[in-house]
Amino acid sequence: MQIFLGLAFIVPPLLLSTYFKSSDKMSDILEANKRHFNKESHKYEIDFEEHIRMLCEETERRRLWISSKWSDTPEGNGQEVKLLDYACGPGYMSRLLAPYVTKAVGIDASEGMVSEYNKKMQEAGIPPEKMSARVGNILGDTFSEDFKGPEYQDFDVALIGNALHHFSDPLLSMKRVVDRLREGGVLWVIDVLDQPHARHEHEKLSPETKASIHTHGFKVDQVKNLFAQAGAGADVKIEVIDKTFEIKTPDHNFKRTVFFARGQKL
Ligand SMILES: C[S@@+](CC[C@H](N)C(=O)[O-])C[C@H]1O[C@@H](n2cnc3c(N)ncnc32)[C@H](O)[C@@H]1O
Repeated sequence: MQIFLGLAFIVPPLLLSTYFKSSDKMSDILEANKRHFNKESHKYEIDFEEHIRMLCEETERRRLWISSKWSDTPEGNGQEVKLLDYACGPGYMSRLLAPYVTKAVGIDASEGMVSEYNKKMQEAGIPPEKMSARVGNILGDTFSEDFKGPEYQDFDVALIGNALHHFSDPLLSMKRVVDRLREGGVLWVIDVLDQPHARHEHEKLSPETKASIHTHGFKVDQVKNLFAQAGAGADVKIEVIDKTFEIKTPDHNFKRTVFFARGQKL
């Protein structure tokens, strides 16, 4: 009895401290992302110009591999085609896909990125009714309340581009993005492979950039499992881009291998 009473006093505080530590970690990484990307937002498309050009080319090349429903395909012609660009950054993917969708919603945790997205849409002559971004965090407690209108449901394609490795809980974020897809809608992820040199290279990043990263990348099998567990396990396909891409910024210079993955909501 004494042992039981002793445990009753020790275990709950231990569990609580574990809970608070992991939720502290979650908010630390979110805050680190906001700090870093608010500062980066105005020059992101310049710093990563080469990398972005490559990603756009690779996307154009496999647009029909990603989804069969676009405004210029028999499945999407004359229909509403909705894109969710989650963790959208300044929105170059939404802009690239503008001719092939009727609507895109960008969501990003960084206010700076959201205002870049909206500014660049305006400069490109794309009206906010067609494409606009809002600040949001899908891992946050208020997300479902904040994004509950019909405009935030039933997406045909949802992209998480170069961002999954920044999230404190990649699987949960994927599950919540999949919740926003229509049945048969496509979850599309672009990210980097976890390679032996990745950890070492990340160590060389500035402390600020390093703090914004949760994982060094993903293994192909892990990506397959994540898609299955997130509820987008139908027709999962993963393509590793056959070139090594060098990312050069004023702060760092490193090589990573990018993958494209797509799967459909069951
Ligand atoms: C490397 S950038 C990628 C931007 C863009 N999608 C691209 O493909 O270049 C990562 C983005 O993820 C955003 N981000 C990080 N954590 C987030 C979260 N929990 N929810 C929404 N956006 C987040 C950052 O603000 C940043 O814009």
